[in-house]
Amino acid sequence: MRKTVLVTGGAGFIGSNFVHLLVGKPEEWRVVNLDKLTYAGNLKNLAGIEEGENYRFVRGDICDAELVEKLFTEEKIDTVVHFAAESHVDRSITGPAAFIGTNITGTFTLLEAARKAWPVENPGAGERCFLHVSTDEVYGSLGETGFFNESTGYDPRSPYSASKASSDHLASAYFHTYGLPVRITNCSNNYGPWQFPEKLIPLIFNNAMHGKPLPVYGDGKNVRDWLYVVDHCEAIEQVLLRGANGESYNIGGNNEKQNLEIVHVVCDLLDRKIAPLKSGEPRRSLITFVTDRPGHDRRYAIDAGKIDRELGWQPKVSFEEGIEKTLDWYLAHQQWMDEIVSGDYQNYYEKMYTR
Ligand code: NAD
Ligand code: TYD
Repeated sequence: MRKTVLVTGGAGFIGSNFVHLLVGKPEEWRVVNLDKLTYAGNLKNLAGIEEGENYRFVRGDICDAELVEKLFTEEKIDTVVHFAAESHVDRSITGPAAFIGTNITGTFTLLEAARKAWPVENPGAGERCFLHVSTDEVYGSLGETGFFNESTGYDPRSPYSASKASSDHLASAYFHTYGLPVRITNCSNNYGPWQFPEKLIPLIFNNAMHGKPLPVYGDGKNVRDWLYVVDHCEAIEQVLLRGANGESYNIGGNNEKQNLEIVHVVCDLLDRKIAPLKSGEPRRSLITFVTDRPGHDRRYAIDAGKIDRELGWQPKVSFEEGIEKTLDWYLAHQQWMDEIVSGDYQNYYEKMYTR
């Protein structure tokens, strides 16, 4: 039977990739996309998707209980995939309040709305599901060895990861206390189309294209595990279809890289695909080591064995293939990035949604 999914944050990076995946399967999914269109939300990420029987966009805040409760009943929501969040660690250091509001209170508001809308005696009846999308950053920082698995204790270090950890605990508590059919996913660093250019890969791409300095925090040896966003979206779909309530699943790309390696790959691919800088210098010459991020987690690495064993999911896209696809996509969508960097896309929404 076709499911009606409330996707929150579906105009952001991962959410828009996920909406594209689901609207391509209209016999299986009907999508209601609730997004506030903060600085990170962009309707151009959803280009080509038409409003209609199978897809509705609602501009709104997940902290607005009245709106969220109305959507649950009006749209007969039976599935939630909750992406909406403040997502950038650096912004959480300079302005944590928005992270507390959206990531904690917003998640609480959605959980409450599901609790009120779904049958009290059996909230999971009819294969209902509330999938909360979280991060590996809740587990803290690793040394040179080891991996995060689903039993690793939470040890968040930034206001961002602390707010996500808090929302994970709330989601889990709603399973244990009210029987809400909650599933949690904790994934590593995503990359791919429509990523906002404040994050490492699109930021380095944009600066490298314009001959600007490439800021590398600290010694550039911090390690992240890179997951191609389409692989991530497919993993989420598997968790919806085949996962178990009350469980969490780690999702990773098996692609551990030091930040400096990532910057080198982006520079070298652009030198090869376009040309070196006008000066004739390679783009690596733009690398600038800058003051480290406070509390900068040294290494994240995911053991994604559980989702492989239990749901048969593995990432399909190697880093070499994924980064090439990603840079080709950015090269083909330079206007998209220019509009974001200049801030123009936000004016468009103010006109569109101000009555
Ligand atoms: P993003 O910043 O690109 O997009 C966030 C979206 O949420 C935007 O469209 C924004 O407008 C919307 N939003 C923000 N506040 C809102 C509110 N109060 N009400 C409604 N909508 C609101 O984020 P992303 O990178 O796509 O991340 C999506 C989710 O995945 C987040 O929960 C994040 O914590 C998690 N995650 C991301 C990564 C990553 O590498 N990007 C890694 C692990 C986990
Ligand atoms: P980021 O993309 O912000 O993701 P996260 O902090 O959630 O892992 O950063 C990825 C890594 O790259 C992180 O170790 C910080 C580093 N970084 C830089 O060195 N320079 C930059 O300009 C940015 C944005 C990040």
